[in-house]
Amino acid sequence: MKKVTAFAPATVANVSCGFDILGFAVEEMGDKVTVSLADEPGVRVVRIEGDGGRLPYEVDKNTCGVALKAFLAAIDYKGGLEVELYKGLPLGSGMGSSAASSVAALEAANQLLGNPLDKKALLPFAMKAEGVACGAEHADNVAPSLLGGFVLIRSYHPLDVTKLHVPKGLYCALVHPHLELNTADSRSVLRQQVPLKDAITQSGNIAGLVAGLYQEDMGLISRSLQDVIAEPSRSVLIPGFDEIKSAIKEVGALGVGISGSGPTTFILAPSREVAERASEICQEVFDKIGLEVDLYVSAVNTKGTYVINKA
Ligand code: HSE
Repeated sequence: MKKVTAFAPATVANVSCGFDILGFAVEEMGDKVTVSLADEPGVRVVRIEGDGGRLPYEVDKNTCGVALKAFLAAIDYKGGLEVELYKGLPLGSGMGSSAASSVAALEAANQLLGNPLDKKALLPFAMKAEGVACGAEHADNVAPSLLGGFVLIRSYHPLDVTKLHVPKGLYCALVHPHLELNTADSRSVLRQQVPLKDAITQSGNIAGLVAGLYQEDMGLISRSLQDVIAEPSRSVLIPGFDEIKSAIKEVGALGVGISGSGPTTFILAPSREVAERASEICQEVFDKIGLEVDLYVSAVNTKGTYVINKA
């Protein structure tokens, strides 16, 4: 085997109440990365498509390059790898674009080199790439992109990550306005101190959401999808957010939140039909605002990254 191509899915981080500690993966949308054996030692990024010429080829600035360098150092591999990145996700969208690139690169390289590490052990290398992409080594995009489903980061130091149950019938709609929001900027607007009453509200909601997922209790999930920490500071940066929040109430959606650091908005729904109806309403909201949007309806992807081709 000389070459492996892997796919890694888009992700919704935070899921309202789980700032930096919860995320889930979606189906179909994502990035593809091909990693090939090369004679020259080290990692080289040789092709990037779908980014409009904006992503860096320098290994220490490219998320695939950063993740792979850290991975090769950890397994003490002295050979060379070439990387081709095919972006399926828009940059600065809040759908885990940087995470999908590094995760697909790690999955492809790990398989190419005979699986020296299990999937979960690849996580720290993808987190390092997030640090380069947005200034914070947060795991709530890379962990679900790698492992699939809903993933909880119980602790960062030491890293303690666990997959959660995905209720049957759970769907999401993603509303991506044609705007970019850089994660570092979107993090810079956050308060650094959280009042005790907000900490209590947020803890109740995250515990309620996890319980709701396990009990497949859509009402409990719905009541828990509230964020008093990041959303109040960030929602002003997201066009259409407040309008969507009030407009989708009647269609039976479970809740609305900012996907990661935005500007994509996510909606959770108890069925595909409700998610589709919510997405139609979002289209109407954005038609009124006069801003173009991409709309996606997806089930939760439970398998995470996977290999699509070996040669
Ligand atoms: N938890 C991160 C944030 C996710 O909200 O900044 C970024 O996609």
